[in-house]
Amino acid sequence: MRNVNQETLTQVFLDYCGPETSPRLRFLLEHLVNHLHDFVRETELTHAEWRKAIELLTKAGEITDDERNEFVLFSDVLGLSSLVDMINSKPGATSSSVLGPFHILGAPELKYGGDLKKDNDGATVIVQGQVSGSDGKPLSDAVIELWQTADNGLYSNQDEAQPEYNLRARLNVSDDGRYAVTTVRPAPYTVPDDGPVGELLNATGRHPWRPSHLHFIVSAPGYQTLVTEVFPSDDPYLDDDPVFGVREDLVMNYVEQSGSASVSDDFEAADRLTSPYFKVDFDFVLAVETSG
Ligand code: BEZ
Ligand code: FE
Repeated sequence: MRNVNQETLTQVFLDYCGPETSPRLRFLLEHLVNHLHDFVRETELTHAEWRKAIELLTKAGEITDDERNEFVLFSDVLGLSSLVDMINSKPGATSSSVLGPFHILGAPELKYGGDLKKDNDGATVIVQGQVSGSDGKPLSDAVIELWQTADNGLYSNQDEAQPEYNLRARLNVSDDGRYAVTTVRPAPYTVPDDGPVGELLNATGRHPWRPSHLHFIVSAPGYQTLVTEVFPSDDPYLDDDPVFGVREDLVMNYVEQSGSASVSDDFEAADRLTSPYFKVDFDFVLAVETSG
């Protein structure tokens, strides 16, 4: 042990892990420490660089509280969160995407065709589609959580001027798994950039603007819960999302409807829909739950 050196240090670390270490933890640590040690050797990391990294992590700890988690944001802007999403995505299911920090529990239920826009400013959009399983079954017992920014680019929990749960709902689906809601077109906004993550973005010439999106969590018994986002195809930030959340199958056309608005009576806002408004059709496919 006294002769530990650059070549033996990684193995010495692994030998320190006692027999109580679970096989999965041992496996994860082995790979983590191997990569970390290789990183230091390959980059010939200096003391000053190591101190800078620790300083950024320390600042992340200081700025993190119940409402803001700078470590998750680091994971987002380094592409880690999206990589975890990608490798856990199931073939045949809708792609998942980052949860983000603005989801809150307890949003009110909204019936099929309900109105979320109410008196919010912004372009009206009808969002509708069907939830089915990767086995092709329409999921009538699916629950869809939807949350989004208002026209000013802020979520209700960032903006005291918005009512509690503004632009947030638990959507009920119809007997054939269909959902429909009227809402406002979401606006682009920046990830929080006044902390160490902002420092990193700045130092690397990256901007903090996320493309506008609707967030969804879709769940149904017997299927894997899907956390995802849906983006308008004409958003200016689609190709340089700072958190790498965009996937081809999550990009949707907001189709402008001109002429006199004609929608079915199922829509709560049917008599208030004035042209032009937009329609988005987006179907969700949930992967069948597999045990283990
Ligand atoms: C968001 O979509 O709300 C978000 C996602 C990742 C980082 C910051 C914000
Ligand atoms: Fe968001």
